[in-house]
Parts: sequence; structure tokens; C-alpha cells
Amino acid sequence: MRVGILYSRVRAEEKLLFEEFTQRGAVFDLLDDRKLIFDITGGEERTACYEDYDVIVERCIHHGRALVSLRILNDRGIPTVNSVQVADVCGDKLQTTSALTAAGIPSPRTQVAFTTDAALDAMEELGYPVVMKPSIGSWGRLLSKINDRESAETVLEHKEVLGTYHHSIFYIQEYIEKPGRDIRAFTVGSETICAIYRDSGHWITNTARGGQASVCPVTPELNDLCVGAAKAVGGGCVAIDVLEDPDRGLLVNEVNYTMEFRNSVMPTGVNIPGRIADFALQVGRDGWEAANR
Ligand SMILES: Nc1ncnc2c1ncn2[C@@H]1O[C@H](COP(=O)(O)OP(=O)(O)O)[C@@H](O)[C@H]1O
Ligand SMILES: [Mg+2]
Repeated sequence: MRVGILYSRVRAEEKLLFEEFTQRGAVFDLLDDRKLIFDITGGEERTACYEDYDVIVERCIHHGRALVSLRILNDRGIPTVNSVQVADVCGDKLQTTSALTAAGIPSPRTQVAFTTDAALDAMEELGYPVVMKPSIGSWGRLLSKINDRESAETVLEHKEVLGTYHHSIFYIQEYIEKPGRDIRAFTVGSETICAIYRDSGHWITNTARGGQASVCPVTPELNDLCVGAAKAVGGGCVAIDVLEDPDRGLLVNEVNYTMEFRNSVMPTGVNIPGRIADFALQVGRDGWEAANR
């Protein structure tokens, strides 16, 4: 079994994955996305270097690099973890919400608008407070909680004057009065392997922003919801953000496809990188469909 690991920087997660592949006797090569050249129109002899791999594990930091690489690799028939479809849907909150809704997975009420006037109307209709997010982004960056019309006008004016075109596709959500925490669940294939609570005094609970991780039991309800959410985006190894709504219960907020997990191994006692390595080896052996069954 030959494994390729496509990466941007060797972080804690990548080190843990290397250890797990080594323990399983898998030979792996590191493919640095800063040095990579894909000769996409090249003949067979030029692309053989990638086709030798049974599976390539994608660990890029930039969504754009991940998406392009996975597209080329999958088009060449090289299995990857995750697939280009999963990366495409999960990398964009707008696509994720649309896929979740199509699959009947409950998520916060969300509106999409293309102009500042329409965005303002959407906010008024949802009722304040609302949350506005860049549809492509992570680590809680550039999220705004907008409490009234005046702040809405200010944020929208800033986006219009200072933002790029991508910031004028407005993704606007109802604010969920969650209990000072959210849930992050990890799904591999058709199983939710573990979950953490992320407690924070701030409404943005990402551990990258200071949220404190503690174990969250995987109830049958949480498992079913997360497996359903993972299936809705195409399967694979994903991390699912879940909000607890006081009236409606569990709502899926977003699905992440190149997840960080360094803060979740200790509190849960689950070997997350080991499970990812097992899944990747299964994809290499039996193919993507079989590994997700
Ligand atoms: N609609 C919402 N209501 C309440 N809290 C939210 C809402 N959306 C996001 N949050 C909080 O902000 C955090 C980051 O939001 P998220 O959509 O996951 O963006 P990111 O991709 O940056 O992690 C969530 O984990 C949650 O704590
Ligand atoms: Mg998140």
C-alpha cells in the first residue's frame, strides 16, 4: 500500500497521522503543496508519479489548493481522502447548508442574498440577532453577530466598500441561543467516532478562539444526525459542528473536511488519527464507495 500525504505545513495533526501510518506498516510520501506541479495535460509518463499511489490523504491548509488537487487526482482515478465532492461541498457553507437541507438534516435557518439591500431585508425578516459569515472560511474568522439594524448597515457597508466579490454573496443565519457551548462531532465512514463540547464565554466557540474542549457523549441521536450530515456531503472523514437549540434540539451548523483534531484526542480518549489512517487505507484497498458503506 502506497500512501501520499498532501500537506501545506506539518502541524500536530500531520505528525499524529504519520505515526499512525508508520504503526500500520504503510509506506507514505509527503507531497508539499508549495512545491507541487501538476502536469495536468501531460502524458502518462508525466503523471505516473501520482498514479502510483493507492490513496492520497489531503491535509492542505488552503481550501483552494485542496480543491484543485483533489479535482485533478480524482479525475485521474486516484482515490483521495476526502473526495473532491466532499471538499467542494464542505469548503463552502452555502453549499453545505443546501446539501444538508436537501437531505432533510435540520440546520439553522439561513438566507442568501447578493446585494446589500437584499441582505438587509433578509436580516429584518430573520429578526435580530443574526449571524453573517463568509461562505468560505474557518477558525471563526470574519463572523459577525449583528444585533440591530444600525450594526447591520455598518457591517454591510464595510463589506461592500472593503470586501472582494466573494464578500458580496451574503450568507445570513438566525442566531441560535446555544447554552454557552457547541458540539463538535467526528464522523468516519458511517460512524460518529467521538464528540467534544466546546465551552466558551464568547459566542464563537472554536478551540482556535479559546473554546475549551471536554468529552460529549455520542448518543444515538447525535450519531444518527452526524452520520446523516456526513452522508449528505458525500461521506468520508468529517468534523461536524452541532448547535443545541433550546426548542428544536440539535441543529447541524457546518461540516469540515480537513479537520483539526489535536484538542479532541485527549478529552475523548479516541484515537482520531488512527481511525483516519484506517479509513484511508481502506479507501486505498477497496475504494471510496466501499469504505463509506
Ligand atoms: N447561527 C449561529 N448561532 C449561534 N452560534 C453560532 C452560529 N453560527 C456560528 N456560531 C458559533 O460560531 C462558531 C463558528 O462558526 P462556524 O459556522 O462553525 O464557522 P467556522 O467555519 O469559522 O468554524 C460556531 O462553532 C458557533 O460557536
Ligand atoms: Mg466551525
